[in-house]
Amino acid sequence: MAQAKKDSHYISAKESRRIAAENRKITRAFEKKKARRNVNESEYLTKMADDGNIVEFDNLHTYFYTDVGTVKAVDGITFSIPEGSIVGVVGESGCGKSVTSLSLMQLVQGPAGQIASGSIRFKASDGKVYDVAKMPTAAMNKIRGKEMAMIFQEPMTSLNPVFKIGQQLDEVMLLHTPGATKEQAKARSIEMLGLVGISDGERIYNQFPHELSGGMRQRVMIAMALECNPRLIVADEPTTALDVTIQAQILDLLRDIKTKINGSIMLITHDLGVIAEMADYVVVMYAGRVIEQGTAKEIFDHPMHPYTIGLQKSKPMVNQSVERLYSIPGAVPNPVDLPNYCYFRDRCDRRCPACNGDYPEIRTVAGTHRVACHLYEPEDKGGAK
Ligand SMILES: Nc1ncnc2c1ncn2[C@@H]1O[C@H](COP(=O)(O)OP(=O)(O)O)[C@@H](O)[C@H]1O
Ligand SMILES: [Mg+2]
Repeated sequence: MAQAKKDSHYISAKESRRIAAENRKITRAFEKKKARRNVNESEYLTKMADDGNIVEFDNLHTYFYTDVGTVKAVDGITFSIPEGSIVGVVGESGCGKSVTSLSLMQLVQGPAGQIASGSIRFKASDGKVYDVAKMPTAAMNKIRGKEMAMIFQEPMTSLNPVFKIGQQLDEVMLLHTPGATKEQAKARSIEMLGLVGISDGERIYNQFPHELSGGMRQRVMIAMALECNPRLIVADEPTTALDVTIQAQILDLLRDIKTKINGSIMLITHDLGVIAEMADYVVVMYAGRVIEQGTAKEIFDHPMHPYTIGLQKSKPMVNQSVERLYSIPGAVPNPVDLPNYCYFRDRCDRRCPACNGDYPEIRTVAGTHRVACHLYEPEDKGGAK
């Protein structure tokens, strides 16, 4: 392929055209498969590996086929969300957190973005287990929003500015509940506004998004997510755009909601403080892969991967004065051109000779604690596959 300019990050126009033509073939095949109608359920029904889970990501690969090459945004991640738990997914910006959650909702931006391989098993309320990675769009539309709902970072971009809050809330229910009347939808919407702590729901129902504060808009988004009684809420940086005090309120609300709907939450954030406060399990991502995972206690009491340790050191602490916050040197590698050794090697302050070998396998170190780092491999292995 690009043998002549191997060291260069630039590619020629001719090369780019060739990649584009190849990508078109690949993405067209994916799109065609997803657009099929009346697909037999057996094609995408499956079984959970562990019945206690509501979601299982299994070696998921989600790629963007761009004209400059394939962006491996999610490159083989495996983790699960046990029923009734909050799983926190943490990592720097660009490490693939959003793409992971969008894959689960089948909302990755096509045609460039595609689930290239792997499985995402989801257990619905009727006990059926769907493999989201194999579902055609028509089938997915039936469970998205109803069984699983998503809350985004910036509510203003998810709410339509020209429609009143009430209309937008009603629409969700009307869409997913055949035969529901307008009156029923309105009653449900006001009930949901109450559930998210908005006492004057009747008034908010008749307002436009721009008339509300950021915190109120995020509450409305949560109300919208709850409209159809989902069992799983995916919250992608739900508090990043909010003030600290409002952030605490929204986190309290999410915790409260989880108990009320008896559901599970996948909570995505770059903020370890939020994870520490909320999560039962933690998944640490780096450059499209899971590099460490375990219970919150395991991760916070015994962080093992030098990246996780770095993240913790760079977190501000109350009652502790520091001259300067630690920051991990360097940057995440380019996802188009990932090296075959550990992606963190060049930023790591604990690199050893084994780090020049292959990318380290993820392995269990204790209980549910897993880490992908050569430091914790059996001594004689030193980077072997
Ligand atoms: N629509 C897109 N086209 C191409 N690349 C994308 C697109 N969306 C995300 N990416 C790439 O995928 C990687 C992961 O992105 P993302 O999941 O948004 O990161 P995070 O949410 O952890 O900040 C990044 O390298 C990003 O540039
Ligand atoms: Mg993101």
